[in-house]
Amino acid sequence: MTQLSPPVATATASATAAPGPGGRIRSLLAMSGHPLDYVGGLRDRYGPVVRIPLGWRDMYMISDPEAAHEVLVTSHRNFAKDVMSAGRGTWAAPLEVILGNGLVTSDGTFHRKQRRLIQPMFHHERIAGYGRAFAELSDDLQSGWKDGDRLDMQVEMTELTLAIVARTLFDVSLDSDVARTIRTAVPRHEGPLRWDSLPFARHLAKLPLPGNKRFYQGRASLYAIVDQLVAERRRGDGQGADLLSLLLAARDADTGEPMDDLQVRDEAITLLMAGHETTASALAWAYHLLGNDPGARERMHAEIDEVLGDRLPTVEDLPRLVWTDAVLSEAMRLYPPILGVARRALTDFEVCGRRVPKDAFVAIVPWVVHRDPRWWPQPERFAPQRWIESPPSADPADELTGHAVRPGRPRLAYLPFGGGPRQCIGNTFSRMEGVMALATLGRHWEFDPVPGFTVDSLARITIRPRQGLPVSARRRHS
Ligand code: HEM
Repeated sequence: MTQLSPPVATATASATAAPGPGGRIRSLLAMSGHPLDYVGGLRDRYGPVVRIPLGWRDMYMISDPEAAHEVLVTSHRNFAKDVMSAGRGTWAAPLEVILGNGLVTSDGTFHRKQRRLIQPMFHHERIAGYGRAFAELSDDLQSGWKDGDRLDMQVEMTELTLAIVARTLFDVSLDSDVARTIRTAVPRHEGPLRWDSLPFARHLAKLPLPGNKRFYQGRASLYAIVDQLVAERRRGDGQGADLLSLLLAARDADTGEPMDDLQVRDEAITLLMAGHETTASALAWAYHLLGNDPGARERMHAEIDEVLGDRLPTVEDLPRLVWTDAVLSEAMRLYPPILGVARRALTDFEVCGRRVPKDAFVAIVPWVVHRDPRWWPQPERFAPQRWIESPPSADPADELTGHAVRPGRPRLAYLPFGGGPRQCIGNTFSRMEGVMALATLGRHWEFDPVPGFTVDSLARITIRPRQGLPVSARRRHS
């Protein structure tokens, strides 16, 4: 497949084995049930590097921001993303089964070439061009709501982010046949994606189970629709501004070569899949937190009213939507949409005085880092003011205001988008999309929690509400 740089051994003789719990089956069960509670407890008990036995393999969880920096940034060449293949020959890991060899799953020189090709499509100015779509599609969504409606915000936000990605990636609207197929075909949590972290996933994924069948059928329809769109673009003038046209027009800076159709398909499906459920979860969690904090919600609405008055937001409004932006940052701190950033060690290495062996499955779990009291005072508290720069004269008694943006903090104490050369390419896209969605919907609506409903999280590849996020919608300014 792809070439990786030669590893450099970095473990010293004085490093000691990483501590951790015993019981492979117990850990496996805990990880497939409520992994967040489990791994959070392990960090408290064993420290910044914990060895967690999982079935046939150990996972090394690293939760120190400087150590995460070492893995993801400084020594990134000593780590690969093919986490599931070590020691068992190569077999397609769950994500590869759907994303092929796109940006999320590829590695080494091939990944670097692809990233260089695709990066310009995610530059700030290019994304700003999608600003209108972010606001208009959010406005379309809310136009169907009625006062007192009970909505599932996870479903609503997924509809919205899917509409946005369908428009920006393929230039189709959500009520088109293409988008309808995408919506129903996207195999969300079935088949290999359902079994993701289990060691015997590859066997389970081959069984003739109904979920597996649906997965492979969905994947076939998705491939067919993307192939059709690629063929249409190839027949056309190729001048479109959607991401698919840009993928087709991209040329390697050194060789001048374009991507072939299969690679374009892998990249397009990667952007489609990576680009919507994550932002949907971030928004759903933001509404969950706002629903339980009327003060923060009122402050957001006051800001939206003041900045926007009677109109839709534009990208020029973003610098003034400071509190709204802070709400999104804080929601992604408490509920980072991606469960873990995982790597395979290409060499023995040492981190925080602990030895991590070659081929180890190394995982950084943003949830755990984001709730560490060393970096986050009152970590469980939803406090958007952490993200608001405070003047030097600010009340020193309010320790949270501006805390997250103080100079000198370890950068990767906050890593919802990962870090280093593999950090999320859609970072700016999703932040703009998220703030513009909050602002557009917040012009007219506020959402209250449904009494008696307990919100719980489901952590698999992403972290989302386990049974949805029901709210009652209340119209503002009636
Ligand atoms: C709140 C929203 C999002 C979150 C929290 C998020 C999170 C992440 C994280 C943690 C990674 C790094 C994984 C790793 O290092 O192993 C990643 C990579 C990636 N994300 Fe996102 N993402 C979001 C939105 C998006 C969007 C909107 C797109 C595209 C439109 C996107 C496309 C990608 C791609 C292509 C990669 C792979 C980059 C590479 O390896 O070069 N993401 N994302």
